[in-house]
Amino acid sequence: MIRNYPLTGHNSFGLDVMAAWACKIFDIRDLEKIIQSSVFTDEKHIILGGGSNCLFLDDYFEGLVLLIKNKGITIVEESGNSVIVSVAAGENWSDFVDSMVDRGYGGLENLSLIPGKVGAAPIQNIGAYGVELMDVFIGLQALDLHTRELVNFNREACEFGYRSSLFKTSDKDRYVILSIDVMLHKNHTPNISYGSVAKALQQKGITKPGISDVAQIVKEIRQAKLPDPAVLGNAGSFFKNPLVHNLVFQNLKNDYPELRGYPESYETTKISAAWLIEKAGWKGKRIGDAGVHTKQALVLVNHGKANGRDIYSLAMEIQQDVKNKFGVVLEPEVNFI
Ligand code: EPU
Repeated sequence: MIRNYPLTGHNSFGLDVMAAWACKIFDIRDLEKIIQSSVFTDEKHIILGGGSNCLFLDDYFEGLVLLIKNKGITIVEESGNSVIVSVAAGENWSDFVDSMVDRGYGGLENLSLIPGKVGAAPIQNIGAYGVELMDVFIGLQALDLHTRELVNFNREACEFGYRSSLFKTSDKDRYVILSIDVMLHKNHTPNISYGSVAKALQQKGITKPGISDVAQIVKEIRQAKLPDPAVLGNAGSFFKNPLVHNLVFQNLKNDYPELRGYPESYETTKISAAWLIEKAGWKGKRIGDAGVHTKQALVLVNHGKANGRDIYSLAMEIQQDVKNKFGVVLEPEVNFI
């Protein structure tokens, strides 16, 4: 247990934040020990993977931060074309994807270069370029902080949705995810349905892409549009893409014919939050050191000395302005701590 632990390197906004207590979890024994300690029972606590999807509102977190550091990638089962891989929550997500692509196991290539740790991936059902974690996910192991027992979840039990799961909604903060299992394929036909991926493949003259071609293209697209948190603090998309009723979409489309919609269900259409923010005039703007990225309006950035409240205030101003202009409420994707 560490007293007054600096979290500057543990949050991708690069905020100067201190935690009253921190504890590094290397294995289940560390975790079992810590949950019996008085600090755990007396103080509030948070579980931190890479800190890539959170915004600390205050400079001092009056509680305990559990830093998940367990490691390991295990091939659980190999049968014919499919491979089941178990990976520890503390592994870096992007390195894990690279190692699977290198081994020729397909299914994760579209999720290349997403920042953060493996354990955070199911919490918000990470997704990019037409693929979501739930497409390959088969299960996870977690410690239930209520019952103090180890539990297994299958895909259905996780209640995955668009950037959502049980771990982000009804059972928020109840479980410590220890490892996840995914099913990958050796003869995998990559998903190239996403517009920008298909276009880049065409430009490169690749007609039959393999998983490493797709991984490479996804990396290039991301690097061109999304800022590297090591250079410019950010947490990827700050808001979710809103799901609106089809009638709302039609009304907006009448006013803005260029607005694109992606049918989500019988009644709802997903629209681009980045488009709304850009159209409202926020792209590239900054208030002090809190800003909107110049190349991707959905990403809020820390130009240097912003604190959590500065970024939060900017987000709330954008949210209000988009609501006033379009009648659409943007829901944050980032967790506020
Ligand atoms: N667009 C704009 N202005 C911008 C950027 C985008 O108008 O500044 C419009 C364009 O019409 C573009 C469309 O938005 O065609 C979609 O843009 P993009 O492909 O960049 O996707 P996104 O909806 O902005 C989502 C995810 C990203 C993920 C990309 C690619 C969410 C909240 N975000 O962004 O995920 O990388 O798709 O699949 O669903 C993240 O979650 O942190 C994240 C980066």
